[in-house]
Amino acid sequence: MTIERQDRRSLPMADHVRGKRSPVTCMLKCANACLGPECNRTDNPTFRSVVDAVLTRRAALGLGLAGAVAIALPSAFGVGPGRPAAAAASTTLPFQPIPPVPASVDALTVPDGYAWHPVIRWGDPVLPGAPAFDPEAQTPEAQALQFGYNNDYLDVLADPSGLTGVLVVNHEYSNEGIMFPPSLGAVERSRITKMAQGMSVVEIERDAIGAPWRATVGRRSRRITVETPFALVGPAAGGALLRTVDDPSGRMVRGTLGNCAGGTTPWGTVLSGEENFNGYFTTPTATAATSRYGLSASPSSTRWELEDPRFRAADGHEQEANRFGYIVEIDPQDPTSTPVKHTALGRFKHEGANVRIGEDRRVVAYMGDDERGDYLYKFVSKHRYNDGTGPGARRQNLQLLSEGDLFVARFSGTSPAAEVDGSGALPADGAFDGTGQWIPLTLGGRSMVPGMSVEEVLVHTRLAADLVRPTKMDRPEDVEPHPTTGRVYVALTNNSQRGSRHPLDEANPRTGNRDGHVVELTELQGASGTAFAWSILLLCGDPASPSTYFAGYPKELVSPISCPDNVAFDAAGNLWISTDGQPGTLGLDDGLFKVSLEGPTRGRVEQFLAVPVDAETCGPVIHDREGSVFVAVQHPGEDGSWEVQRSAFPDYGATGPGTFAGPRPSVVQVVRA
Ligand code: FEO
Ligand code: CA
Ligand code: CA
Repeated sequence: MTIERQDRRSLPMADHVRGKRSPVTCMLKCANACLGPECNRTDNPTFRSVVDAVLTRRAALGLGLAGAVAIALPSAFGVGPGRPAAAAASTTLPFQPIPPVPASVDALTVPDGYAWHPVIRWGDPVLPGAPAFDPEAQTPEAQALQFGYNNDYLDVLADPSGLTGVLVVNHEYSNEGIMFPPSLGAVERSRITKMAQGMSVVEIERDAIGAPWRATVGRRSRRITVETPFALVGPAAGGALLRTVDDPSGRMVRGTLGNCAGGTTPWGTVLSGEENFNGYFTTPTATAATSRYGLSASPSSTRWELEDPRFRAADGHEQEANRFGYIVEIDPQDPTSTPVKHTALGRFKHEGANVRIGEDRRVVAYMGDDERGDYLYKFVSKHRYNDGTGPGARRQNLQLLSEGDLFVARFSGTSPAAEVDGSGALPADGAFDGTGQWIPLTLGGRSMVPGMSVEEVLVHTRLAADLVRPTKMDRPEDVEPHPTTGRVYVALTNNSQRGSRHPLDEANPRTGNRDGHVVELTELQGASGTAFAWSILLLCGDPASPSTYFAGYPKELVSPISCPDNVAFDAAGNLWISTDGQPGTLGLDDGLFKVSLEGPTRGRVEQFLAVPVDAETCGPVIHDREGSVFVAVQHPGEDGSWEVQRSAFPDYGATGPGTFAGPRPSVVQVVRA
């Protein structure tokens, strides 16, 4: 179905898009998740009630809050503002922050002294034989060989020589209204968009270390689409919940959907989160599970269900949607390898996953479920990381995510409920902070959720988590451990229902949370343990607003920032945040921001770049030692139409055969000029 311009303008989303995205993005990307019935209608306790219970117990024992806090906050809090820095704050990427860019500007804006170029654009060749991009004559066969649409996660994996490598990219969704001429038929569009989503592995090369990367076609080049076979692995693979008429084994799925963020593992594979998979299905029969995942009988925005019965979830395909919503793992070095879907990491609207090696050598993956009021998760592997360099070690490491324990987070705060008033004003103890627990959903191969089998926990993970009373969060996006301090950064992008459907709590303290926040989490028993401490690092927004907080750094010295989404780190230990939603909240183009974490500049937010009109900034990769930053520019000119395009990114002003008046989502490299 084409979403014609007129239809787009009448989309009933005034509330939905308040402070967030364009209605078109909401429909195409998230299947209007915010408009439908609330996915999480459970009545979990806020951690306020948990704290109150603790205080009541302590009062009965004759102890006060101070005692409780002293017990709850051990010395792991010793790394923080004003304390010795764990990483040097210097960087080889010096820049003067750019001024905020108004939301109508169609330009990629970088600091003085920097230049940018697209490494690869939608429609550029990935595989041998790919025809040159021709916007007037697109075909599914061409698109299957070309770079896909709406790039999100990316990583740049250089080979030992430093002169070659692979670029790995997610393609989250597509936008027929601006991709195709109106003359192209609905079936052909559908066949093309199926090839435009998924992932790309792109060979890259450069003339010298530090020189700009360019895309080429090589041995490792690969497109992964909605038709690529994936192996289901882990405890739920082969189970009854994953079988369909096409796959009675329950072990082989065609394709991956809604690939949003991701992470590169210590063993060199790439993880990708299947996020808004529900939007691809029409599901005639409603159950507790389908409702909890936002699956509905409504037509999908892709309309693939019209010609592909598995998206109709009927006639033997009832369980097809159970086969999406996982963390997928691909080996970008081996184009013949079969990518896998990891059931051990649970099924939800996975933003992404980021893996660290714990002190006990088990690997830990942090994950967010990106929905209003949904949860923060982590996975701890059963087996230990093998740091050998041979093929045997790699084979072992490729199994690490197939077996282990899955946890969900419950946060507790330190301040009285009355001091968390929804305004963002700090409580009397000067911080939104506290401790938390990782509550097991599976442990040692057994279900820890009464009444649910391991298979049920891993396929209906949201239903399982609801039963152990985790903390409802403000849309967990990227969750990433810092490479040297080990602290974990959680981007919570926004939640219009906070303070109404989802009660305020100290970890989600602002009513209507329009601008989102960032939580800093410290594991108290090592990465694989079950206790953590936390505090809010940033309450995002216009620094002129009293509702904001930047770790105590002077507000007049920070860039405005709203709707944090993806996070990354540079070699100097700074946090980088990309945003998705600033046009709707601050009236500004989205951007990429550097945040100091240590010493007197902790909390200083500096804007590095701004993306073009309607776009979101994705997949930041910071190679500061090489003077280089990569971003994926997703959905530029989203609100346009074929006839009236709103963005000409990135080929502004280009003419000649194959040029396109509209936008081409692209991976961009920014270099010191
Ligand atoms: Fe695809 Fe949660 O962003
Ligand atoms: Ca507090
Ligand atoms: Ca995202």
